[in-house]
Amino acid sequence: MLIHKQSDIIPSEITSKETFENRRTLIKAAGASLLTASGIFTGFINGSANAASGRQKINAYAKSKYSTDEKLTPYEDVTSYNNYYEFGTSKTDPSIESRLFKPAPWTVSIEGAVKKNKQISIEDIFKLAPLEERIYRMRCVEGWSMVIPWVGFSLAKLIQWAEPTANAKYVEFTSLSDDLMMPGQRMRVLDWPYVEGLRMDEAMNPLTLLAVGLYGEMLPNQNGAPMRLVVPWKYGFKGAKAIVKIRFTENMPKTAWMKAGPNEYGFYANVNPTVDHPRWTQSSERRIGGGLFTPRIKTQMFNGYAEQVGQLYSGMDLIKNF
Ligand code: MTE
Repeated sequence: MLIHKQSDIIPSEITSKETFENRRTLIKAAGASLLTASGIFTGFINGSANAASGRQKINAYAKSKYSTDEKLTPYEDVTSYNNYYEFGTSKTDPSIESRLFKPAPWTVSIEGAVKKNKQISIEDIFKLAPLEERIYRMRCVEGWSMVIPWVGFSLAKLIQWAEPTANAKYVEFTSLSDDLMMPGQRMRVLDWPYVEGLRMDEAMNPLTLLAVGLYGEMLPNQNGAPMRLVVPWKYGFKGAKAIVKIRFTENMPKTAWMKAGPNEYGFYANVNPTVDHPRWTQSSERRIGGGLFTPRIKTQMFNGYAEQVGQLYSGMDLIKNF
């Protein structure tokens, strides 16, 4: 993805030693209460926590008809090869730097053109619909891909609960802004907070998932705990992590990546092997986890989900609306 040069970081953003030490103390305190926070989660998902690893099983979820039967990307790769710039820009940063991140307590603010203009707790979000396991192909704009067994439910369920008004044409998702727990936010690599968006019909498509887990466990911090978006026919950057705000709007949201590189990252971001990124091809991809000599595979239109979502774009110029 496009990364600003080191010289783009403004001096006021460089943390003083004193502030850094204060933060360290606070982060340690946050770490001490991490297991207590995990306990809260275990209560409402009817799961069980492993005190040593901090991993928490989700006991009850159904299998989904929307799953692919392709070989899963190993858990270790899904959870250690990540893009999550709030925790750093290298692939291994998020799994290391998010260890003390606290995904509880958590509330999501529902705003804009919607009847239920209010805060909803993550506990109440879990009550909106039964959980499902959805095995999705995921394609990153950088040219790599994975097959991930997510756990969650269709975003449509939350939207139906929220009751958008006739003015709601788009949905905007905002990730947490907290440079204490998210050290990457002290660097201006993006205009924080991370913002993404979907057109209303895209958001209502049953494939669009609010994910709260993967591999039968609560979402690890580096994958977007406690709740993130998963849109399998679009490039991975549409899947905002650690969502704290969902806003219904009349106008197309300005996303963080559109602001960073408008010629490189469009609003639609549909996986499209015929429209190259200005700096590289999008016609093929490398599956993560298969070893160094795994041949690249052909990228499919809409990442292989054309049957389910192709009609959303009929008549649209997908070169212009990239
Ligand atoms: N969400 C936030 N808040 N911050 C990010 O940097 N990166 C995006 C997306 N969601 C990102 C984010 C990108 S570029 C990708 S490819 C996916 O998350 C990666 O998700 P994964 O690490 O769970 O595979």
